[in-house]
Amino acid sequence: MNRPRAVIKGVFGYTPAYVMTNHELETLVDTNDEWIRTRTGISERRIMKDPDKATVFMGTEAAKGLLKKTGLDPLEIDLVICATVTADYIFPDNGTAIAKNIGADNAFGYDVNAACSGFLYSLSSACIMLETGRYKNILVVGADKMSSITDFTDRATCILFGDAAGAVLISAETDTEYGFQDSILHSDASGRKLLYMKGGGALHPATVESVRNRDHYAYQDGRSVFKQAVLKMAEAVDEVMKRNNLKPDDLDWVVAHQANLRILTSVSKQLDLPMEKFMVNIHKYGNTTSATIPLCLWEWESQLKKGDQLILTAFGGGFTWGAIYLKWAYDSQD
Ligand code: UT7
Repeated sequence: MNRPRAVIKGVFGYTPAYVMTNHELETLVDTNDEWIRTRTGISERRIMKDPDKATVFMGTEAAKGLLKKTGLDPLEIDLVICATVTADYIFPDNGTAIAKNIGADNAFGYDVNAACSGFLYSLSSACIMLETGRYKNILVVGADKMSSITDFTDRATCILFGDAAGAVLISAETDTEYGFQDSILHSDASGRKLLYMKGGGALHPATVESVRNRDHYAYQDGRSVFKQAVLKMAEAVDEVMKRNNLKPDDLDWVVAHQANLRILTSVSKQLDLPMEKFMVNIHKYGNTTSATIPLCLWEWESQLKKGDQLILTAFGGGFTWGAIYLKWAYDSQD
């Protein structure tokens, strides 16, 4: 029997209703709309204002929408992976909770923490699991309530992040040329302290002092991360293109993690891939960490055609980065 291929069957997103504009941030920190737009490309981001709703809620909403749209019986789902750095609890995980909320009672669940590359890592692992033939349907959710770890007194970081979730259904199919083709994933812990949350883990558990020091918020050395993000995403895309004999003209879409518009334009230049091929929605949502790639797929789904060649790429804390090459498997009216 031919080895099954992992094929994306549908995608759905969830964004909280509250829109935080750059102008609102001007009232919180010493910044301005013009600086934020020209340095990052961000105009606004969504914030989950309800204190009783967090990452599981957003992931569940995205997953429910996806099930409704695809018509899949939740009992047919084998696994729910949630990519996140803002799980509702340090333990247990989000994936199990989302599975329960959507009635995926035959599924197991777990979380993947690979910062902004979490969705990429999760999707790649899910695809490879499906290719083994052991599983049939996997739900990959990317969800982050970044506002829960954003220091709204730090202008260097608070302008960047937003809250959102996206979910993708991937199924094993035989006798198809579409779907997942290849992936390349990397990590390098030398960047560990350039983008991280200092407190709250086992090394520096919460104390009165850690709260006072604001150690429970995301910290980043923006300039260093920026340079590495451009370099490593461009390298990973180039690597996966070379390995699959792809030329820039062969590609229909690049779906890159949305951290900064200038990162995307630099990657586009380095690879000689026109910006028209890049999905860009950072102006509306900011950096939603694990959710940026599925949110892009969701927004562009109606434009995607069966056979379109896509490269997904991300770079994030860890450092973690990589690229996935896939052939889109359906027209939006399917
Ligand atoms: O998703 C995971 C990966 N994350 C990323 O890829 C993010 C990578 N980094 C970035 O996107 C950018 O480095 C930032 C957007 C975070 C910062 O942009 P930058 O162009 O690297 O600015 P900078 O940190 O070099 O700061 C330039 C100036 C500084 O002032 P001086 O020292 O030149 O007087 C900052 O103090 O801009 C100042 N600045 C601000 N000014 C107004 C920094 N933040 C702000 C702000 N508003 N919000």
